[in-house]
Amino acid sequence: MNVHTPRSRALGMHLILVLVVCLLASQVLLAHEGVLAPTESATPWGGDYFPNTLLTDQDGQQVHFFDDLIKNKVVVINFIFTSCSDSCPLETARLRQVQKLLGDRVGQDIFFYSISIDPLSDTPEVLKAYAQRFKVGPGWKFLTGEFADVTDLRKKLGLFIEGVDNGRSKDHNLSLIVGNQSTGRWMKASPFENPWILADQLANTLQNWKKASAEESYANAPEIRPPSNGEELFRTRCASCHSLGPMDGQGIGMRSIGPDLIGVTRQRDPAWLNRWIREPDSMLKEKDPIAVELFERFDKIPMPNLRLDEKSAQSIVDFLQEETERQQPLQAAQAQ
Ligand code: HEC
Repeated sequence: MNVHTPRSRALGMHLILVLVVCLLASQVLLAHEGVLAPTESATPWGGDYFPNTLLTDQDGQQVHFFDDLIKNKVVVINFIFTSCSDSCPLETARLRQVQKLLGDRVGQDIFFYSISIDPLSDTPEVLKAYAQRFKVGPGWKFLTGEFADVTDLRKKLGLFIEGVDNGRSKDHNLSLIVGNQSTGRWMKASPFENPWILADQLANTLQNWKKASAEESYANAPEIRPPSNGEELFRTRCASCHSLGPMDGQGIGMRSIGPDLIGVTRQRDPAWLNRWIREPDSMLKEKDPIAVELFERFDKIPMPNLRLDEKSAQSIVDFLQEETERQQPLQAAQAQ
C-alpha cells in the first residue's frame, strides 16, 4: 500500500494547518493568562485530568476537589472509612504524627485530606467525631461524597486496585498520595513510612525546596529531622530485600526476598548481627549454624556482602532496634 496518495497528503496538510491554528490560539490564550500560564502548562495533571468532585467536609461545608482542595497546593490524600478498625486508625495516627511535625504549616502551605470510601455511614457528623477522636488539627479535612464519584477519584489518583478494592470486603489500598498540583509532582507513599520522611517530602521536596521566607509561618516552622544514617543505609541497601514490620511495603505490593527484620535485634546477639551485616558470606563459609539454617530456609539465596564497615553496620543495627521498639513496644511483646 502506498501511503503517499494525493489524498493522504492533502489530509496531512490539513492536519498541519489545524495544528498551527491550535498553537497560535494557545499562544494567545497563554499571553492573556499572564503569570499563571507557565505553572498551568507545566503539568498535564490539571483541571481536565482531575475531576472537580463535589465533596462535603466534616463541618458540612461543600467543596470541589480540584478547585478548592488541590489546585496550586501541596497535599496529602488518603481514603479511609471510620468503621475500619485496623489499618485506618494506624494510617490516621501516622498522619497525625506527620501533622504534628509540620506544625502550623498544615493549613497554610500543606493540606491533608482523608476521603471516606463509605459515604453512607460516614456522614459529616460521623467524620467530625472521628477527627476529634484523633485530635486532628486545622488544615486537615475529612470528606465524604457520592460513592461513584469517590471511586472515580480513587482511580484518577491511582489509589484503587481492581480486585482488592472492588471485592466485597472494605479492604482497601493503604497507600496515600502526596503531591504538588502546580508542579505536577505526585508520589505514592506508605503510611508506614517513617513520619519524618513523609514530613520532609511535604515540607521540602514537594515545595521544590522553596526557601523559608521571612513570613511568620515559616519562621515558626519546625525543623525537620533528616533520617538517621542507619535508616538511610537501611532504605538504600537493605530495604529492597527486607521488610520491616508486617505493614511495610503493603501499599506497593512488595515481596521480600530475605526475612522481615522487625524484632531481629531481640532475637540475635548484637555482635553476631554486626558481623553478619558486614560479612554474611564469610560466616556462611565458616558454617556458622544460624547462617546455614537461614540460608537453607531462604531458598539458598545468599545475603550479599555489601562492604559496610563496623560503624555503618552498627548504625543499621541501632535503627533496627529503634524501629522494633516503635512498632512492638516491650509491654505489647511480653503480653503476646
Ligand atoms: C539481595 C538481597 C539482600 C540484601 C540486599 C540484604 N539482605 Fe539480608 N538477607 C537476605 C537473605 C536471603 C537472608 C537469609 C539468609 C540467607 O539466605 O543467606 C538475609 C538475612 C539477613 C539477616 C538475618 C536475619 C535473622 O533472622 O537473623 C539480617 C539481620 C539481615 N539479612 C540484614 C540485612 C541488612 C542490614 C542489609 C543491608 C545492609 C541486608 N540484610 C541486605 C537477603 C538480602
